[in-house]
Amino acid sequence: MAYIRLLNTRMYLSRRSLAGLIVGAVMIIFLSHNNSYVMTIKKNVFNEYDSNSFLVGISNDNVSDTVREEIQACIHPELDVDDPVMMAFYKKLPKVVCKGEKNWVFVDNGTLRFSEEAKKIHKDFHCDYYPLIRGPGDYQISFSDPIKDIKDGANLTSDFFKITCVDINNNTYENIHAGIHLNLTIKERLQVVKPPANGLGLSIAFLGFDSMSRMSWLRRMPLTRDYLVNELKAIEFQGYNIMGDGTPAALLPILTGKHEQELPEARRNQKGAASVDGFPWLWKNFSQHGYVTSWADAQIQIAPFNYRLLGFEHSPADYFMRPFYLAVDPLYHKYSPDCQASEPMHMVWFNWIRDIFNMYKDDPKFLFHFYTPLSHDDNNKITMADEDLKTFIQYLETGRFLNNTLLLIMADHGARFADVRRTLSGKLEERLPYVSLRFPPWFETKYPEIIKNVRTNVNRLTTAFDLHETFKDVLKFDGAGMGDIKNRGISLFKEIPKSRTCADADVAAHWCACLAWQNVPQTDPDAKRALQTALDTLNNFTQEYRSDCALLSVGNVTMLSKLFTSDDVLKFKETAGDRGLEPIMSAETARDKVIYQLTFFTEPGHGEFEITLEHLIATDSMSVNPKSISRINKYGNDPACILDKNREIRQYCYCKNNLS
Ligand SMILES: *[C@@H]1O[C@H](CO)[C@@H](O)[C@H](O)[C@H]1NC(C)=O
Ligand SMILES: *[C@@H]1O[C@H](CO)[C@@H](O)[C@H](O)[C@H]1NC(C)=O
Ligand SMILES: *[C@@H]1O[C@H](CO)[C@@H](O)[C@H](O)[C@H]1NC(C)=O
Ligand SMILES: *[C@@H]1O[C@H](CO)[C@@H](O)[C@H](O)[C@H]1NC(C)=O
Ligand SMILES: *[C@@H]1O[C@H](CO)[C@@H](O)[C@H](O)[C@H]1NC(C)=O
Ligand SMILES: *[C@@H]1O[C@H](CO)[C@@H](O)[C@H](O)[C@H]1NC(C)=O
Ligand SMILES: *[C@@H]1O[C@H](CO)[C@@H](O)[C@H](O)[C@H]1NC(C)=O
Ligand SMILES: *[C@@H]1O[C@H](CO)[C@@H](O)[C@H](O)[C@H]1NC(C)=O
Ligand SMILES: *[C@@H]1O[C@H](CO)[C@@H](O)[C@H](O)[C@H]1NC(C)=O
Repeated sequence: MAYIRLLNTRMYLSRRSLAGLIVGAVMIIFLSHNNSYVMTIKKNVFNEYDSNSFLVGISNDNVSDTVREEIQACIHPELDVDDPVMMAFYKKLPKVVCKGEKNWVFVDNGTLRFSEEAKKIHKDFHCDYYPLIRGPGDYQISFSDPIKDIKDGANLTSDFFKITCVDINNNTYENIHAGIHLNLTIKERLQVVKPPANGLGLSIAFLGFDSMSRMSWLRRMPLTRDYLVNELKAIEFQGYNIMGDGTPAALLPILTGKHEQELPEARRNQKGAASVDGFPWLWKNFSQHGYVTSWADAQIQIAPFNYRLLGFEHSPADYFMRPFYLAVDPLYHKYSPDCQASEPMHMVWFNWIRDIFNMYKDDPKFLFHFYTPLSHDDNNKITMADEDLKTFIQYLETGRFLNNTLLLIMADHGARFADVRRTLSGKLEERLPYVSLRFPPWFETKYPEIIKNVRTNVNRLTTAFDLHETFKDVLKFDGAGMGDIKNRGISLFKEIPKSRTCADADVAAHWCACLAWQNVPQTDPDAKRALQTALDTLNNFTQEYRSDCALLSVGNVTMLSKLFTSDDVLKFKETAGDRGLEPIMSAETARDKVIYQLTFFTEPGHGEFEITLEHLIATDSMSVNPKSISRINKYGNDPACILDKNREIRQYCYCKNNLS
């Protein structure tokens, strides 16, 4: 066992070192009319579109402006889907099975339906319908007088209701259901108020899942992800960095454009605290601008705006699912795990969204839904819902419900379980949640410049404030073009500047997943070793041709810098304080590797090379990924003597006969 584990670790290390950083300097070599070799260089050092390898950029201080222009300021660490440290937490669970009899009734686009199966089994059953009433406030509900003997096909009179049924043998059914009843007040409002003409006219559907890092999503949701990315052409963001600890820190910036501490006091037991109604919620703006709005989260005890905060006095949106969960929560103990009566709990949540889409198929929608139960305490439970989520999105797509909708499938942050957080991979994954955006196909045809920017931004440093600006752009489009780095939030419809750092984006250092960047002096022993390794690598290419190619030595070094996970991230253990704003920096997470970025001349011949090298700390090994070597100046006729023998090594060969 111990042997196998060791073997795995070693295989893992060597695979990782091979994966390395990919330097995407593009070299175009062509034969010019006078027969000398000329090389054109596009000095965009990193390959931005290699989506599965890693993220690009370089972080923070002491980087000259020239370098900043060329290289992205924030390089994200390369994360590994198969990371054995993280795979140790992985388990695929079977689909949810709900025991007991199938529900007797269900809802269908605003109507109550009796199931055919129940009608057969339970001759002549009769039901009473009790509308569920919210409030006052976020913690109370009541049922109003029943509609006695309600019929199959009746219109719902409320979104949520309790129903009790009895058949002639006194068999009974009792359950709480969620649907969307026809609300003429809303329908009329939507007739009168239309979305602004200077907006993009898109609906927005945000389906959030708790505690799912990008890597965790890739590991656990393969069916959904494959469908989203390969069939729906969803765009996944790889450099979306969290803003703080927990769900409010992730959702408040999206929904209000502010950090919690910038908003009115709403914490329990704080002097002068009031409900969160006074926050500048985007729901209100969308509602005022011709959209129907919703907010649904499913775990009342840890609801993002109710756990530490006081919750809503008045519903923030047209549709609000909390009252339903207040009614259902006391009943869960009666059912099989993860079920409400005969339905998996997550299906109840999906179906309510489905019903909003049905009732408002052609109306503008701003839907914001966040699901906790499948992934908050244990990421693995969500594997039970992969197929169902895929099927649900497929239903929306094939029913043409998404033709006018920007669909966001994403998470608030990665897993925060203590044992995951202790590992370096876990820390980095926590900071990089899953984020995907899917636009209807016609949108790219109509707004090619927007989609171009969105795709460019995939590997840039992005945050929740950017999503806020993006949503505002849907209401009032501010144009594509280059984003202003001075704003902490930049619409994803604009290009996020390459030079953006965590400081620009208002991400605290201990949350910043960008690799730190440091210039190192040539006298540094590790730097010396790195240079020597890089040089040996170059010379090894020409080893067999030493009678033709000169042995090179290092001439002037123009760039010698290293990239590594910052001390702030390594030392970060957890946060303290009611808002989770005070970092406790006592962790002793070890650094796994340091990446060297070298640019130097070789002599004789004055060749200039750009090389990326990885120093793995655990094994103290340094290696150059052959793909990361770029010859960045012209070599002209220098390798003429070798061309007939081995064309592949021409960049590394300076012919000895040039010396005489
Ligand atoms: C349901 O409501 C619609 C619209 O108001 C109405 O046309 C229909 O007759 C109602 N159906 C029933 C069964 O009452
Ligand atoms: C059903 O319950 C009612 C009231 O308790 C009782 O009068 C009736 O006899 C019962 N019917 C059957 C079939 O048990
Ligand atoms: C949203 O509405 C509020 C008040 O209704 C207003 O102050 C704010 O500027 C609006 N925000 C946007 C992005 O339109
Ligand atoms: C209909 O929607 C409006 C606006 O959201 C709300 O105030 C009202 O209570 C709803 N009516 C019913 C019967 O739910
Ligand atoms: C659902 O019902 C509403 C109101 O009756 C109607 O406008 C809408 O078209 C229906 N949706 C579907 C998908 O049939
Ligand atoms: C989708 O929406 C676009 C733009 O509103 C429209 O031109 C197109 O006909 C719609 N396609 C379908 C299949 O509904
Ligand atoms: C950046 O430059 C300043 C002043 O030149 C220096 O004090 C600091 O140590 C440098 N930081 C890094 C990370 O190299
Ligand atoms: C260069 O080649 C020698 C001999 O094959 C080998 O031992 C050495 O590890 C190589 N060095 C590098 C940096 O690839
Ligand atoms: C190295 O750089 C120095 C200063 O820029 C310059 O004077 C010198 O000629 C360079 N040496 C070579 C070999 O290019």
